[in-house]
Amino acid sequence: MNIFLTGSTGFLGGKLIRNLIDETDHHLYLLFRNEKKAEKIISSFTRKQRNRIHLVQGDITSPDCGLREKDKKIIAGKMDVVYHLAALVKFEEDLRDELFRVNFQGTKNILNLAVELGVKKFFHVSTAYTVGRRNIGVEALYDRAAEYNNPYEESKVQSEHLVDSYRDHMDISIFRPAIIVGDSKTGEADSAFTLYGFMRALEVFKKKTIRAGSTGQVYRIIGAMRGTSNFVPVDYVADILSLALYRAENETVYNITNPNPPTNMDILTWIQQALEMNDLSIVEDEGVQDLSSEEQRLNGMIDVFAAYLKSSIIFDDGNTKRLIAGSGIEHLNLSEESIRMIINAYFGTKAVPA
Ligand SMILES: NC(=O)c1ccc[n+]([C@@H]2O[C@H](COP(=O)([O-])OP(=O)(O)OC[C@H]3O[C@@H](n4cnc5c(N)ncnc54)[C@H](OP(=O)(O)O)[C@@H]3O)[C@@H](O)[C@H]2O)c1
Repeated sequence: MNIFLTGSTGFLGGKLIRNLIDETDHHLYLLFRNEKKAEKIISSFTRKQRNRIHLVQGDITSPDCGLREKDKKIIAGKMDVVYHLAALVKFEEDLRDELFRVNFQGTKNILNLAVELGVKKFFHVSTAYTVGRRNIGVEALYDRAAEYNNPYEESKVQSEHLVDSYRDHMDISIFRPAIIVGDSKTGEADSAFTLYGFMRALEVFKKKTIRAGSTGQVYRIIGAMRGTSNFVPVDYVADILSLALYRAENETVYNITNPNPPTNMDILTWIQQALEMNDLSIVEDEGVQDLSSEEQRLNGMIDVFAAYLKSSIIFDDGNTKRLIAGSGIEHLNLSEESIRMIINAYFGTKAVPA
C-alpha cells in the first residue's frame, strides 16, 4: 500500500510510522513542514527502510496542504490510505482562531486533497474528549451544538462532522484516543502536553515553593475526589491505528480509551511520590472558601486541565474491542505499576532544572 500521513513528526505519529515501517512493506508519504524534524525522523530508520519513506513538504493550513504541483503529480491516483493526525493540541481560549485554522480548516484541506488524489480510505484521528461535558462517551458523532470545555474540543467535534460529510467520496473511519501517555513498556514519551503539561506544572510549582521556603503547608487543587483521568499508552493507540489498515470499517467511530481509568487522587499521589513531595491535595469546588495566593498560582498554572480534573467519564469502546479481537493486541488493562512507570520515566528524563 501507499500511505499518506500528516502529523508524523508528532508524539503519536512518530510511534505510528515506526510500526508501519517495521511491521509492513508499505510505502509511507509523510507530509512535513519542518525539514530538520523530518530528517531527524528519517535518520532513525535503516537505509533499506528509508527507501519506503517519502517526504512531502507542505502545511495543512494551506489549500491542497501546500503541496508542490510536482509532488501532487507523483502521488495522484496512487495513495490507498490517508492517516490524518496533524493538529494543534492546546486548550487555551485565546488560541481559538488558531485551533480552528489548524484543526478544522486543516482537516478540510487534507480532505479536499485526498479527494483530488483519489484516496480510497481516510483515517481521521480525533479525540475521546469530543464527548465534551457528557458523562458517557459513545462511538458515534456528538451533537455540534452541545457544551464543550474548550475550543480544542469544539474544533475536533466540528472536524469529525466535516470528515463524515466526505463519506460519499471515500471510506471514512474516525479514531478517538483519550489522553495519550508514554509507551506501556518503556514509559518513553515525546510530549509536553496533557499529562506532561500537568506534571511539568507541578514540578515547577514544587521548585518555586521550595525556593520560597514552604513549611509543610498543604496546597489544594480544585477538582473532584472521584474524578478519573483516562490514559492510553501511545503504543496501544499506534497498534490500533496500524491494525486499522486491514480491519477498520467504513463510517465507524473507534474510542481508544481505558476501561478502568485511575482516579485523579491516585494519579496525584503517584506524581507526588515521583516528585518527593507530599503537600498537594484535591478538593471539591464547594469545599473551597478562600485559596491562598500560592494555591491560586498553582490552580492558575493548571487551569487548562481544570475541567478534566472534575470529570469522570465512562467510554464505550465496543468498536475498538471488535477491531482488535483475535489480532494479538490485548484490550487495554493499564495497571497502577505501568502508570507509575510512565510517570517516573518522565521525571527521570525531563526534570526541570533546580
Ligand atoms: N496527545 C494526546 O494526548 C492526544 C489525545 C487524543 C487525541 N490526540 C490527537 O492525536 C493527534 C496527534 O497528537 P500528538 O499528541 O501526536 O500531537 P503533537 O505531538 O503535538 O504533533 C502534532 C503534529 O501535527 C503537525 N502539525 C501541526 N500543525 C501542522 C500544520 N499546520 N501543517 C502540517 N502539520 C502540522 C505537527 O508538525 P510539526 O512537527 O511540524 O509541529 C506534528 O507532526 C492529534 O490529532 C490530536 O488531536 C492527541
